[in-house]
Amino acid sequence: MVEAIKVLRVRGAPAIGVAGAFGVYLGIKDFSEKESITAFYNHLDEISRKIISARPTAVNLPWAVERIKREARRSGNTIAEKKQIVFDIAKKILEEDRQMCLAIGRHGYEILKIYNTILTHCNAGGFATTEYGTALAPIYYAKDKGKNIKVFADETRPLLQGARITAFELINNNIDVTLICDNMAADVMRKKMIDAVIVGADRIALNGDTANKIGTYGLAVLAKAHNIPFYVAAPSSTFDLSIENGNFIPIEQRESEEIIFCYGKQIAPRNVKVYNPAFDVTPAELITAIITEKGIICQPLKEEIKKNLV
Ligand code: MRU
Repeated sequence: MVEAIKVLRVRGAPAIGVAGAFGVYLGIKDFSEKESITAFYNHLDEISRKIISARPTAVNLPWAVERIKREARRSGNTIAEKKQIVFDIAKKILEEDRQMCLAIGRHGYEILKIYNTILTHCNAGGFATTEYGTALAPIYYAKDKGKNIKVFADETRPLLQGARITAFELINNNIDVTLICDNMAADVMRKKMIDAVIVGADRIALNGDTANKIGTYGLAVLAKAHNIPFYVAAPSSTFDLSIENGNFIPIEQRESEEIIFCYGKQIAPRNVKVYNPAFDVTPAELITAIITEKGIICQPLKEEIKKNLV
């Protein structure tokens, strides 16, 4: 599971939270039930550390793993009971994620229903969550209500989640999707081809600063320049209320190969220096509102987050 998360076989903040939770179960399920509870806790801590270290930015991963650890310590008397608790909580996290995405769809629809075309970045859909997605959930909800919102999908270099996943997912759900390269977003905005931007999130600080796939910050700046609303959609498991602002969000740096090679083909000199952060931070002031399963968090984000989520 650690390898699967590292190499993005499973990716997207909520999905790696759920996968991490089941990863803990995989790591403890064969632990000898003849050992002491202390030995079991030590093993649980070790497994949890390994899983959390797989990717640093999405807070859903430590959120899910720590929750499982807490419950496993709190409940059950025997190792067998504690193993069962770990499995049950993992299944609960999975089901809760489904419900949160549905609720995000419902709340997001109230905002997005006035728009005809939106732009999204990376993939914050069904392949990034248990089902429905976050940023794409309102689009699916709108479709169920008979409103067809069109989508422009950024291809999302370097790993092309927009091209490979969002375009695939939307086509398969009969949503009108147009794929663009990341550097076309400004043009699309200036020509008024989109009405709003909606993206997912990997970690949201107490003041509303939001880490999401690299390129999101640029989109937010562009949206501001073109007077286009910029929405973030995320479940409460993506908020990290222990950090004041985005400067404290750990940003994953990935291998230079991801930029030098594009799907097996070398596209740059092998020895060129590369800067490859997987995420960037969009300052809270560029975000029109955050759509959560609990409702819409409007500006001023810091005050509203404190009021609704703390
Ligand atoms: O590197 P990835 O593909 O895991 O990045 C995913 C994103 O940035 C998503 O937008 C974010 O996790 C939200 S998914 C609902």
